[in-house]
Amino acid sequence: MEHYVDKKALEKIVGDVRAQNSIFSDKSFLDNLSVTNSIIGRESESKKLVKFLLSYEKGLVVPLVSIYGRSGSGKSTIVQFVCQNLDVDFCYVNLRKAKTVFGCINLILSELGHENLKNAQGMNYAFGIFEKLILQKLEKSDNSIFVLCLDEFDTLFYDKRGKPSDFVYKIVVLVEKLRTLKRHMCIVTISNKVLSEFNLDDRVVSRIGTSEIYFDSYSQSDVLKIIRNRAKKSFLKKIDDDVLQYCADISSEEHGDARRAIDLLRTSGEIAGTENEKISKKHVDKAVSQLQKNQITTIISGGSYHFRLACAALSRLTYINDEGWHSTSDLFKQYQKIISPDTRQISYRRFSEMLVELVNSGIAVSKTESKGRHGYGSQFKLSVDPELIGNSCFPDWWPSVVESKKKKEAAAQASKRLKLLSSGRRSSSLGNLYRTLGF
Ligand SMILES: Nc1ncnc2c1ncn2[C@@H]1O[C@H](COP(=O)(O)OP(=O)(O)O)[C@@H](O)[C@H]1O
Ligand SMILES: [Mg+2]
Repeated sequence: MEHYVDKKALEKIVGDVRAQNSIFSDKSFLDNLSVTNSIIGRESESKKLVKFLLSYEKGLVVPLVSIYGRSGSGKSTIVQFVCQNLDVDFCYVNLRKAKTVFGCINLILSELGHENLKNAQGMNYAFGIFEKLILQKLEKSDNSIFVLCLDEFDTLFYDKRGKPSDFVYKIVVLVEKLRTLKRHMCIVTISNKVLSEFNLDDRVVSRIGTSEIYFDSYSQSDVLKIIRNRAKKSFLKKIDDDVLQYCADISSEEHGDARRAIDLLRTSGEIAGTENEKISKKHVDKAVSQLQKNQITTIISGGSYHFRLACAALSRLTYINDEGWHSTSDLFKQYQKIISPDTRQISYRRFSEMLVELVNSGIAVSKTESKGRHGYGSQFKLSVDPELIGNSCFPDWWPSVVESKKKKEAAAQASKRLKLLSSGRRSSSLGNLYRTLGF
């Protein structure tokens, strides 16, 4: 059936959206994409950052500050808030938006108001422009320091063909060059990993020092404070505290994640609004599953065909066998079975990289196991419902998997019955034997 939007359908959509929004007074306080002014706690982390950024005033230059900690611990928020409120020039980019190392420099240039460059123009040319733009900016503002914030820094290292370490080296060299011009620059990297986990070469490591700020995950009560504050500002009516506590509990199950808590609160409110009810724990439960679904759909629809095949292979094995861990080679065999015959297969090596991507995106977890004299091998386990993944990857294909599981179970049942039957017969023949022998 064709789906289309006519006037009537649009009216319904508008009605639904209005219902969803009916219980809010101001949703902007539940927007994870905008930077908030009401930050709760995090004084010591902010203080450390300010101290590093302003150390140049007393002649000490910190070329790079590494901010790290789990997701939703306030890293992006604090860095932007501090930069916006100090007398510094800064450029903030999220490297997730760039697919390649060259894409990163383009992202930075475009943030500074410059048009995109072509790959062929080369990295050195790009850095020449970058330097000019920084100097212009500092000239205009009369600030002495330029702060380059590279959020989700780890994504830079996903570019296998580009040279991430070289790129960082070039920025560090630029920092040193600016210093000779009596201008300062500080790189702030933000990531959930420690800097030493990246493949930075010695030239870089020896120049950047060890200025780090760790963002510990929030406790359940920190998360609760954050969402209590947001709830007050964004809902028309007061929300029961046990609902907020429930949101905070769920968002602290693994590690205290403020982003998750805010998303959960907003989505629960939307669901309650649609149902024209007061927001309750029931709506929070519904929000949990809706958010998980959305997240998975986003990851999967953004992935390549082979990425989806890797997801499908893991889902199928997990679903059919009701079991957790699967080796790379079993998954590769499964991938080869599912792939459409007219598509070129990727290599075993590329496939194992695909599995690592799966882990990076949070769909699976991995562990390394010794295979005795065969060295080490990786094992993968799905961290979400296989049916959800299978259905979002290939909705036309998944029903056939469900079907084959049913068949497999029916066959298992049948063979069990057969065994029972034959063992029954054996005992009765034994009975006959006994009778013949006169027992
Ligand atoms: N201390 C805090 N006070 C108020 N809101 C916070 C605090 N820490 C995080 N948040 C909010 O939680 C969400 C996630 O924070 P974010 O800085 O994006 O985390 P991270 O970058 O560490 O993943 C944002 O909406 C942010 O406004
Ligand atoms: Mg962030």
